[in-house]
Amino acid sequence: MIKVGMAYYPEQWDRSLWEDDAARMAKLGVRVVRLAEFAWSRLEPSEGRFHFGWLDSAIDTITRHGMQVLLCTPTNSAPMWLYTDHPETVQCGRDGRPIATGIRGHRCIQSPVFRRYAARITTEMARRYAGRPEVYGWQIDNELESSHCTCPSCREAFRRWLRERYGTTAALNKAWGNEVWSGEISDWEQIQPPVSEDYMPDWYNPACMLDYERFGAWCLADYVRQQRDIIKGYDPDATVTTNSWFCANMPDFQQEYACLDVAAYDNYPPMVLPEDGETLYSNAFGLDLVRSFKRKNFWILEQLAGAGGCWSPMGPAPEPGMIEGYAMQAVAHGADLVSFFRWRSSCSGAEMLGHGVLDHDDRDNRRLAEIGRFCRRLEQMPDLDRTSIRGQVAMLYGADQEFALKNQRQSEGFAYWTQLRLFHDACMGLGIGLDILPEDAPLEGYKAVLAPTHYVTDPALARRLEGFTAQGGTVVITNRSGVKDKHNNCLFGEPLPTVFRRLCGCRVKEYDAIGARRQHIAAADGSGYDVTGWCDILEPEGAQVWARYTEKFYAGAAAVTKNAFGTGCAYYVGTVGERALYRALMAEICRERDIPMLEGLPLGVEVTARRGQGGLYRFFFNNTLRAVDFPLDGQTVALAPMEMKIQAGDGRWL
Ligand code: GLA
Ligand code: ZN
Repeated sequence: MIKVGMAYYPEQWDRSLWEDDAARMAKLGVRVVRLAEFAWSRLEPSEGRFHFGWLDSAIDTITRHGMQVLLCTPTNSAPMWLYTDHPETVQCGRDGRPIATGIRGHRCIQSPVFRRYAARITTEMARRYAGRPEVYGWQIDNELESSHCTCPSCREAFRRWLRERYGTTAALNKAWGNEVWSGEISDWEQIQPPVSEDYMPDWYNPACMLDYERFGAWCLADYVRQQRDIIKGYDPDATVTTNSWFCANMPDFQQEYACLDVAAYDNYPPMVLPEDGETLYSNAFGLDLVRSFKRKNFWILEQLAGAGGCWSPMGPAPEPGMIEGYAMQAVAHGADLVSFFRWRSSCSGAEMLGHGVLDHDDRDNRRLAEIGRFCRRLEQMPDLDRTSIRGQVAMLYGADQEFALKNQRQSEGFAYWTQLRLFHDACMGLGIGLDILPEDAPLEGYKAVLAPTHYVTDPALARRLEGFTAQGGTVVITNRSGVKDKHNNCLFGEPLPTVFRRLCGCRVKEYDAIGARRQHIAAADGSGYDVTGWCDILEPEGAQVWARYTEKFYAGAAAVTKNAFGTGCAYYVGTVGERALYRALMAEICRERDIPMLEGLPLGVEVTARRGQGGLYRFFFNNTLRAVDFPLDGQTVALAPMEMKIQAGDGRWL
């Protein structure tokens, strides 16, 4: 059965409350209680003195009520004694100076001294609890980000990492093109992290920036692996993960989760709903992206249960139906565990106004009731965890694209995530089953592959996509593809989209980075679309023109093309369009490749399916605050605001 979890901080509450808390959670339907995440100062109050007695009692209380525990290593928040005894464990900021401690997450995850202490507390926990039947799983640290610390040991580690990769300073100079602006180095000591308070990322050498991001992602993966190895050393069968969020210092998720058993995500969907804009399906996008980390079902380790506070002014109360609806949405996109954040809002500490399930008054409330309803619904589908999601359309996501495009702006408003989201939005809007995949994933079994903005080029991917298309698949390539080599330098001597030119049957004659300004394109079928951001002026080399620009000096030139290749075809979308453009393209692809879709879904309705040994379930979620209805197999499906309806394989509605 899909499990419901709850974050609980026994160290923040009087012991007299624990029993009643556990009883209430169990009665609600909670099966897994998430513990110890920030409790290092209680577990090791002074260097080498460990106090696990209180955690033992909390675990006993919880398990006596029939629940299991999910244990977190407390390494996000090191105790204050560690920072004063070993100041070199404090992270340094963009100015190169130690950051002020007193909040949380101040540790440098690369510092060898910090690593030693983190390994020791992890070892103590694993030795005590790993392998016990009451332990459901493990979370490493909390909401890890790629390391951008500038402390002396991080500077040294960056140099070491580069040295291992390039061998000589001459090789590095060549790879990075350091002759520009006299950037050549003659000694590894001359390498500095490309960060400072006063400069924009795109003022640094992009080749250096990309390696710096890769290094940060590597540090994170290395940190995760160390704790994972300790836990697995005590229990090889333990389920170990870490909880992600989409942060400024984005990691390489593939690498981060490679050694972990399951992907996990902290799911805080918007409480003020975008009525229409590009972010309409953004929460669904996040969930689908998390499913791609390990290409299988995932866990939600923090699920919205109340209004936020602390990290921003307090937000609005969740509308009725939101807590249940969003939790169901996570399940509909592949979550097998949904753990709510948090049982009760704390009475002290910075996050006291960040709302959990219960308010400070400790009374049952409507949020608790919604979680209860969510639990009851899951009980109706006891085999749901034996199902998974598999679409017929795949979309590729690459960490290198993320890194390179974040640090070197293409045109005002142009963003990698927007490129991805526009296609995802079209698939959601048409009820098309879509899987996001890492760029090196096998493509067998898919009918169409969307590869928006494959900017840092892997020529092997171009060859694989040619093979896929030759055998009858449809591929979509877009603007800013085939631009850079693996070092993030521009490819020389070949018209864009370089390695994709043969597949797409067109070349970019010239481009116009129009930024926030508008253009217009007219499609061959008579429809027209507003476009913005970027305009590739295309010259077909065998491809058919799907749409042409209507304005400026390139009016009449091709903007979107379609090329027959083997028994399949490749689209090239040279610009960034409004929603309707992507809808039209996806609908055409589905018709031609016989991919199921649902036309006539109201905006904001999501349709997904989980199938497998546990049966077939189709999910219909109204992610809006309007009541909607739509036709489905000759019936009308009506959905209240935030309502999820579920249809089992035998046609029954649950
Ligand atoms: C993050 C953290 C939690 C908490 C929540 C509050 O997800 O992991 O500890 O701070 O945000 O929204
Ligand atoms: Zn550091």
